[in-house]
Amino acid sequence: MAEKIVQLAPLLGLIDAPFMNAIAEVGGFDEIFAPYMLADERSIPKPQVLARRFSDISKRVNLVPQLLSNNADAFVAMANILYDLGYPKVNWNMGCPIKFVVSRNRGAALLRDLGNLERLLSNTIGRLKPELSVKIRIGVDSPDEFPAIIEVFNKFKLNELIVHSRTAVQQYSGEPYRQTFIDSAGNSLNPIVYNGDITNAAEANISLPNLKGYMIGRGAITNPHIGLQIKGLPTDKVLTFKQFATEITRWYCAHGNLNRLKELWKYFAKRFDKPEEVFAKLQTINDSEKFYETVESLF
Ligand SMILES: Cc1cc2nc3c(=O)[nH]c(=O)nc-3n(C[C@H](O)[C@H](O)[C@H](O)COP(=O)(O)O)c2cc1C
Repeated sequence: MAEKIVQLAPLLGLIDAPFMNAIAEVGGFDEIFAPYMLADERSIPKPQVLARRFSDISKRVNLVPQLLSNNADAFVAMANILYDLGYPKVNWNMGCPIKFVVSRNRGAALLRDLGNLERLLSNTIGRLKPELSVKIRIGVDSPDEFPAIIEVFNKFKLNELIVHSRTAVQQYSGEPYRQTFIDSAGNSLNPIVYNGDITNAAEANISLPNLKGYMIGRGAITNPHIGLQIKGLPTDKVLTFKQFATEITRWYCAHGNLNRLKELWKYFAKRFDKPEEVFAKLQTINDSEKFYETVESLF
């Protein structure tokens, strides 16, 4: 495959419109994935409601909406509304490991019963207007599950299979199974995307003929230029890290959402010599003006 694409991972509770808009301004990311929305047969939102959900997101953002669902009818209904709203591709979240998601047989739970997964995909794919991208884990309990999972998806034509190379039981910490990914991902008939702990351009060096690219999550908060760096594009003509972090800080301070900002600053702080001290300074501030002034003084 030609040049690898770079995608921004969905990060619920961390990344929404202000971050997406700022990173689209920086550049380097071909696609930006929205955090998941539930597709449940009892509550399919009206098109206007869905459109409003993305109304703060700039036109520069090439957005891929993501759905969490275990129901083919609900997934098709919501994905087709999104297509009509102008989103040619929708992602299916089959990787979320959170207990209240998995206990309702959604997210990574769909990878447990591969017969059921195949039925679900069969009931969905022929009826979808948008292209289907799927995000999975390398396994639920063990990375040894990966080859059999790939085989199921090989029976269908996907836009891509994005693999967070941790198991669901690992949640978001511990080492990704990068080598297991490299050993087995070549068997995927669908284009495949690697995800998990990429924090600098040198780590985006997997060589597989069917590798479409990389999805980057937390690493892009600490280093918003990573997309440009992976592509070998210049970073000196775009927002600096200081401008990037300040722009986002200004937005959340103006909207009084310091909780979200503090979550982001856990990752921004890693850019400073003493991250713990930087974060500790900000953590206790509950006044927007003071928060903004403190951020300015940090730079
Ligand atoms: C706070 C948080 C929220 C997340 N929200 C989502 C989500 O809505 N949908 C999803 O598919 N993955 C979600 N993820 C997983 C990330 O998209 C990504 O797969 C994971 O962080 C590994 O990539 P990274 O090491 O580059 O961050 C979330 C992860 C974190 C830490």
